[in-house]
Amino acid sequence: MSNPTRTQDLGRPGRDGHLDVDVDLLGLGFGPSNMALAIAVEEHNATTHDPLRAVFHERQATSRWHHGMLFEDAHMQVAFAKDLVTLRDPTSDYSFLAFLHEQERLVDFLNRGSLTPLRVEFAAYLRWAAARLARFARYGSSVEAVTPVRDGGRVVAFDVTVVDEHGPSTTRARDVVVAAGLQPRLPAGVVESGRVWHNQPYLDRIALVDHDVRRAVVVGAGQSAAEILLDLYDRLPGAEVHSVSRRYGFSPSDSTPYANSVFDPGAVDVFYDAPPAGRAQLLAHHRGTNYSVVAEDTLRALHEREYRDRWLGRDRLRWHRCTEVIEVQDAPDGPVALTLAGNLTGTTTVLDADLVVLATGYRPLDPATLLGPGGADLLARDADGALDLRRDHRARLTEPADAGLYLVGQSEHSHGLSSTLLSTLGVRAGEVLASVLARRAAPPVPAVPAVPAGPAVVR
Ligand SMILES: Cc1cc2nc3c(=O)[nH]c(=O)nc-3n(C[C@H](O)[C@H](O)[C@H](O)COP(=O)(O)OP(=O)(O)OC[C@H]3O[C@@H](n4cnc5c(N)ncnc54)[C@H](O)[C@@H]3O)c2cc1C
Ligand SMILES: NC(=O)c1ccc[n+]([C@@H]2O[C@H](COP(=O)([O-])OP(=O)(O)OC[C@H]3O[C@@H](n4cnc5c(N)ncnc54)[C@H](OP(=O)(O)O)[C@@H]3O)[C@@H](O)[C@H]2O)c1
Repeated sequence: MSNPTRTQDLGRPGRDGHLDVDVDLLGLGFGPSNMALAIAVEEHNATTHDPLRAVFHERQATSRWHHGMLFEDAHMQVAFAKDLVTLRDPTSDYSFLAFLHEQERLVDFLNRGSLTPLRVEFAAYLRWAAARLARFARYGSSVEAVTPVRDGGRVVAFDVTVVDEHGPSTTRARDVVVAAGLQPRLPAGVVESGRVWHNQPYLDRIALVDHDVRRAVVVGAGQSAAEILLDLYDRLPGAEVHSVSRRYGFSPSDSTPYANSVFDPGAVDVFYDAPPAGRAQLLAHHRGTNYSVVAEDTLRALHEREYRDRWLGRDRLRWHRCTEVIEVQDAPDGPVALTLAGNLTGTTTVLDADLVVLATGYRPLDPATLLGPGGADLLARDADGALDLRRDHRARLTEPADAGLYLVGQSEHSHGLSSTLLSTLGVRAGEVLASVLARRAAPPVPAVPAVPAGPAVVR
């Protein structure tokens, strides 16, 4: 990062003697988590003479929710009411139902008789909400670094370096909320190439494939893998489609009522208050609600195609059960070669392919990568190296601090399974805002010396 510039003169005492900053709250990412927070901020600002100055930086050019996986037939994995606001405030006009009402589609939705919207429908809802929140958002704007500002032995703010089409700039924020979402996870040692990719950008990448695909391979046994197997099967009627997974077959996701209660807002308290062994047990017991599982309708749709085609003599689905991917080699002048280890057979084989999609899951962002040298040690961690987070979603820091670093979506180990999902993010946004406002009322701290300035900000 070279010479980030700021456009305001800072370092003056601000409101009530607090350090002056460009913004009170800066959000990294403008996916559902931070959109829900922007709604809560907007509501707060409408009812106060002392509004929060907030800005949210989103590296995508527009509001696009998991666009690379937006299959026309895919369904949501949660009920519509687990939208941006309803569990926090069912009367909000940012609800999914308010969206349907405005679009004159509410009756249509009710006639369909399902609690789970299509993903394309929910994505349209998110675009609608994002458009209403546009004044908070900076699109095409990637947060590259979050640098603690220290004064008098305390962390008093964060300088956030952002890169957009105009180059780098820095904004000083009292509180930062990191909601970066999940990062693609690849099998150890596997490198992406023109014919080997993680599923995250699947629809964008498959649209660009111009070589002949006679054999496609999908690695993984979760919802992403199943949806991509279905898509490839239909999209490439002349091709073999291979599934490589460590399981014998796909398992259905558990969305039955008692299991589902693990995603209740109240379950977050229970989980947070539990000892480490209890938390680990709960995560293991209920993993099948979310990970390495497939919605039953997706699973049956795939099976139905396979069953039909076996009768019609055009069987094209191939299964590599209980199989590990050891190596993937994309040589420029031949097929992609996958080295596979069969856990049931004890043999190693090489499978040639024209296309490989790695539906091998996601991992949370490690915020230490943003804090950089001199900042990474600021994050308190537990004995296992996991982030030490307060109940209000703020990171515990290793130095005294008046500034806050909130980490949402990276807290499954502390706040439970709903952390990476939609289920509680409206409620969580309310908790984050309440914490920011409570800390704002805290006693002032000494100002830091003036530095050159940052971009204009929305009130
Ligand atoms: C295909 C798919 C379908 C899913 N369906 C469901 C579902 O039905 N129900 C459910 O509960 N959960 C679902 N999930 C889980 C998903 O995590 C949540 O739906 C939701 O997207 C979480 O919102 P978020 O804002 O925390 O993260 P995201 O939606 O991932 O948003 C994070 C945003 O941060 C931006 N960003 C990242 N790094 C930077 C940076 N350095 N600077 C600026 N911007 C940055 C990203 O571009 C992104 O827009 C699904 C996940 C996937 C992958
Ligand atoms: N329609 C939708 O709403 C929709 C669509 C897609 C995804 N999602 C959501 O997105 C989240 C992630 O789902 P996901 O399917 O992407 O990921 P996932 O559930 O974590 O599944 C990843 C799969 O990859 C396998 N895997 C990982 N590394 C491997 C390796 N080295 N070799 C072989 N297999 C390997 C895992 O195997 P193991 O089983 O052995 O661990 C697992 O089967 C979930 O919350 C899901 O609900 C939702």
